Amino acid sequence: MHMHLPRRALRWVMPLALAGAGLWSQAPQLAATPPMGWNDWYQYQCRVSQAIVERNAAALVRSGMKAAGYRYVDIDDCWQGQRDAQGFIHPNSRFPDMKALGQYLHHLGLKFGIYSSPGPKTCAGYAGSYGHEKQDAETYARWGVDLLKYDWCSAGEVYPPSQMRHAYRLMHRALVATGRPMLYSLCQYGLEGVWRWGASVGGNMWRTAGDVGADGGDYNRMSLIGFQQSGLGRFAGPGHWNDPDILLIGLGKLHPAGERTQMSLWSLEAAPLLAGNDLTHMTPATLALLTNPEVIAVDQDPLGIAARRYQAEGPLEIWMRPLAGGDWAIGLFNRGGSTLPITLNFRRLHLPPRLRLRDLWRHSDLGIFDGHFAAPVPRHGVLLLKATAMP
Ligand code: GLA
Repeated sequence: MHMHLPRRALRWVMPLALAGAGLWSQAPQLAATPPMGWNDWYQYQCRVSQAIVERNAAALVRSGMKAAGYRYVDIDDCWQGQRDAQGFIHPNSRFPDMKALGQYLHHLGLKFGIYSSPGPKTCAGYAGSYGHEKQDAETYARWGVDLLKYDWCSAGEVYPPSQMRHAYRLMHRALVATGRPMLYSLCQYGLEGVWRWGASVGGNMWRTAGDVGADGGDYNRMSLIGFQQSGLGRFAGPGHWNDPDILLIGLGKLHPAGERTQMSLWSLEAAPLLAGNDLTHMTPATLALLTNPEVIAVDQDPLGIAARRYQAEGPLEIWMRPLAGGDWAIGLFNRGGSTLPITLNFRRLHLPPRLRLRDLWRHSDLGIFDGHFAAPVPRHGVLLLKATAMP
């Protein structure tokens, strides 16, 4: 396009041109803000069953998590049984009736997520979709599925890396052809710089790294992946998001400070919020961490502009994202092993000189500050602030 259009006009013309090309035609209405929900993998792995999923879905509603915005109930790996003579996939005996499960979730006002692989086998060795993409998409649509997580796993055995986009596009086309909107969640651990092309193959979210729960899923693992997202924010936006993986909150892997760090960082990064814990046995503290409305509002901010890292000094990092309405969300993180003072210098972040600050975890206004704000942040902890410009 070599017409001379003002920048403002380009902002409108470009998305229209892309939609016309069918690239992102499905995306914006499916994940206008980062998807929120629950995924069974970290809690249950291959012990997952229909009964377990139903119990957690009911708890999601009962606990108030649905009201807080959590909607997708995602079955991860290990639900698959055998293919029949025609090649259609059937669930294994732990999932007696997928269609009924879909109806149950929809009846609760929830969404139904499922999992497969572009390869012949999933990561846990169950049947993948290779050679059966169209049939599987049709089966999911028949069951009432609303989300597919498509996990690379064994696909490397049948596709060279240069074919990765093709493999993901193939399933996206099959999903679109069913006529049922299904959110498309790419899982290939950030290979091939997926953030650059994930949206162009129909992805509404794409994993940017390996499993956050690997290597014990401790603070080191979580922070390695979470802080590694620096620089990727500009590839996220309404309809297509970076996915640093499932929340570890309530799984007993992180201390409360680390759990607040994960929730804050994921929210600043506009990441999907997928709880991974047993919702049927949750402490009030876990529930409060997962449902803090002021923190979730940062994640779900309609502008959809993910945070950028503005400052990194030793173990101290400052991340910030602009919010609709003109405020900013700011995270002051301490990755170190002991409490450290951290100073937020407004000018360094190109902020106005006078700000009203609010602590989003404590739900308390901190006051009005000129030029800077300083506070101690505990080890592995965070201060998550909302800043409002003052005259
Ligand atoms: C991979 C994915 C995980 C999970 C497992 C299931 O490791 O990254 O999120 O889906 O496979 O086997």
